Amino acid sequence: MAISVSHYGFMPDGKEVKLYSISNNNDVTLQLINLGATLQSLYTPDKYGRVNDITIGFDSLYGHLNFTDYQGKVVGRYANRIANGSFSLGGKKYQLTQNEKDKTCLHSAGEFSDAVWDAIIADDNAVEFSYTSPDGTSGFEGNLTAKVRYTLTEDNKVVIEYSAVCDKDTVMNFTNHVYFNLNGSAMSDVLDHEMQMNASHYVPIDADSIPTGEIREVKGTAFDFNAPCTIGKRIYDNDEQLTLARGYDHNFCLCHKEGEADATVKEPVSGRVLKMYTDLPGVQLYTGNFLDGSVIGKGGIPIVKHAGFCLETQFYPDSPNQPDFPSCVFKAGEEFKSTTVFAVSVEE
Ligand code: GLA
Repeated sequence: MAISVSHYGFMPDGKEVKLYSISNNNDVTLQLINLGATLQSLYTPDKYGRVNDITIGFDSLYGHLNFTDYQGKVVGRYANRIANGSFSLGGKKYQLTQNEKDKTCLHSAGEFSDAVWDAIIADDNAVEFSYTSPDGTSGFEGNLTAKVRYTLTEDNKVVIEYSAVCDKDTVMNFTNHVYFNLNGSAMSDVLDHEMQMNASHYVPIDADSIPTGEIREVKGTAFDFNAPCTIGKRIYDNDEQLTLARGYDHNFCLCHKEGEADATVKEPVSGRVLKMYTDLPGVQLYTGNFLDGSVIGKGGIPIVKHAGFCLETQFYPDSPNQPDFPSCVFKAGEEFKSTTVFAVSVEE
């Protein structure tokens, strides 16, 4: 294994952004940049051995800075939405930045994803990023230090390990917002990708994409991916939940079956297979519903609707306001620790 480091660009304030490339012996290359601890690209062979990048995003800092929809970025300290940008903890009410529709706090107003993280080469196949969020940022309390370590293994796994500690009680939820397209380019959308997911329930949302509080069975709905189904087959079904989100943009409650991936996605023409494993209770399946082709991405290709899908592993959205959801509260000094794996392979 080998890691190479190169210059990627300069931020408006002069800070340097670097590109880290890790390659294994199977033609898989993982590229990372320290802006947003971003998974910049993942090159993998298709069933004929042709190597392409299976992530959608930007090939310049300019793209990341001006047009991002969190492509490849790490999101924290609380990924996803918090209703009305407020919650109570320990009897105290917190008012956060309302960066979506002047109402919701989405992805903690982009703090972690917009930050330039420190980086170290942690091993011959691993890079570790760290960032400290000062007390009070976006309305959250406590100094919080987060680390994200990416490893590329010889068996073609991208292992993402998150750890974080805060010096005050707080809520935490870290994810990676990478958009995949197993075709290896954004020339075609992901509607033909076949998805299988071990999730018996999902979390319905309101018009602001905030959970209603219900945890609904997927059985008999367009949200049932227990048996494999293409992403596109039911995406335009007459289902209020799909209409509200213009497609899938929902948290699925994972069953975590021993020895099985939580989700498996296959693209029939390239033969590429992506398996996702996580120890977190949920995953946001987002099918790029709000992408509209107005932004130019990698290779000069417009990023159209459904150009990629995200599997954002997470605590359920708005958990700080939902006492019945798994708790995302961490005491002062208590460590947040979580691992998500994306494993790539091919199938004939
Ligand atoms: C963010 C979220 C997605 C989706 C989009 C909508 O990127 O992570 O789940 O809701 O916003 O634009």
